[in-house]
Amino acid sequence: MTQIATVILAAGQGTRMRSKLPKVLHPLAGQAMAAYPLQVANQVGSTRSVVVVGHGAEAVEEALRPFGADFVLQRQQLGTGHALLAAREALTGFNGTLLLLCGDVPLLREETVRALLEQHRRQQATVSVLTATLENPFGYGRIVRRGDEVVRIVEEKDATAAERELTEINTGIYAFEAPSVFELLAHVDRDNAQGEYYLTDSVAAARAAGLRVCACLIEDPREAMGINDRVQLAEAEAVLRRRINQSLMRSGVTIIDPETTYIDATVEIGTDTVIQPGSCLRGGCIIGRDCSVGPHAVITDSRLADRVNIKAGCVVSEARIGNDTDVGPMAHLRPGTVLAGENKIGNFVETKKAEVGLGSKASHLTYLGDCELGKGVNIGCGTITCNYDGVNKHRTVIEDDVFVGSDTQFVAPVTIGRNSLIGAGSTITKDVPADALAISRAEQKNIAGWSARKRKKRQKGEG
Ligand code: UD1
Ligand code: CA
Repeated sequence: MTQIATVILAAGQGTRMRSKLPKVLHPLAGQAMAAYPLQVANQVGSTRSVVVVGHGAEAVEEALRPFGADFVLQRQQLGTGHALLAAREALTGFNGTLLLLCGDVPLLREETVRALLEQHRRQQATVSVLTATLENPFGYGRIVRRGDEVVRIVEEKDATAAERELTEINTGIYAFEAPSVFELLAHVDRDNAQGEYYLTDSVAAARAAGLRVCACLIEDPREAMGINDRVQLAEAEAVLRRRINQSLMRSGVTIIDPETTYIDATVEIGTDTVIQPGSCLRGGCIIGRDCSVGPHAVITDSRLADRVNIKAGCVVSEARIGNDTDVGPMAHLRPGTVLAGENKIGNFVETKKAEVGLGSKASHLTYLGDCELGKGVNIGCGTITCNYDGVNKHRTVIEDDVFVGSDTQFVAPVTIGRNSLIGAGSTITKDVPADALAISRAEQKNIAGWSARKRKKRQKGEG
């Protein structure tokens, strides 16, 4: 089978984004825009991707390196043809089909690229261009045909009035035969309205050399939408989000209101899990089966096992949550929270670097930071681990089956032995041995009649 390699153009500045971030790194559904074409390339069996970088090269390389791409620098952006030629050396010795994608065209689907490659192969073409028919083709290169044959592509700025009437446009996506395409481009000049080396001129060049050119019409032109500003960025985001939600629903996830549910492309969710409105699932979340999330929960880079219930208004970041656990409403699970399972973390509870054993509970108004809880621990309302002395953080260890009364402060470092009980309202500054009762509060004093005397004084106008 013919080898496939991919070149992704990403050297342009993207001025209209008005951003310090290079255009192709703007995130869409949690991933850099340019990650999408890279993924499509991998999906269609491309064995190598070369990204042509220019503006913001260093940042682009750093962000895209994890996708297994190579990079070539196009120092000056002298046009799309010049950009592909920049990849020539990196592809020395490559003999096969060269897929050309753009870093700023994120909606292109695998199926569409497969259709282009399939037609390219069947027709034994040297140049195949993906085209679309647009009601308003302004700004795009137009496909000039004679009969069925594609003769050339003319840019808006170089087109005659008659050519501007053409509605079939160049999407900027191609399949080429390499190394032939590099030969063709080497002879293309920059004698045009923009003084650029046009990749589109490869079409006329191929025909002049007696090589076959073909055009593959895309079904849904929105797929070829290039992102130039933040309005288009939001449009693309909406399309991607809808695709992600639909694919999850088809795989067995219930999404009550897909229009207000924001799930990143990188999130995995198990069957029969229900996502309530207004929820955001971001980054590398892995959510198990039979869970319930939201409404209005924000979960980032976290792992939920099965039958986990994240109630309204929770924020969960870099946490791991075991089976059959209830969280919230309005709980904040911060990085390093590890719940073993069968836990209850109730309303207005904040956890950070907290390892919580099986079946342990903190049902209300609590801060658990830098701590380790054993199994079966019950944390009373208003408990606080005082983990910070202003300079360093210290740990609180609470062993199995400890019962902590309400309004307790643990001044860390401190260890509470198993099966012990902490009296409500205690400030615990010393370790507690196993099986003990610890209580640290001033003894209660009742002053008989005090309130009545006060009331009388007030009535006499004295108090
Ligand atoms: C190009 C096509 C046009 C097509 C349109 C589709 C040419 C001459 N024209 O026009 O027919 O309808 O795309 O969107 O090819 N880039 C580089 N280096 C450069 C120039 C561009 O890497 O020197 C990259 C850009 O970052 C971008 C892509 O190539 O990702 C397309 O460049 P752009 O300037 O947007 O091309 P258009 O003028 O829109
Ligand atoms: Ca463009």
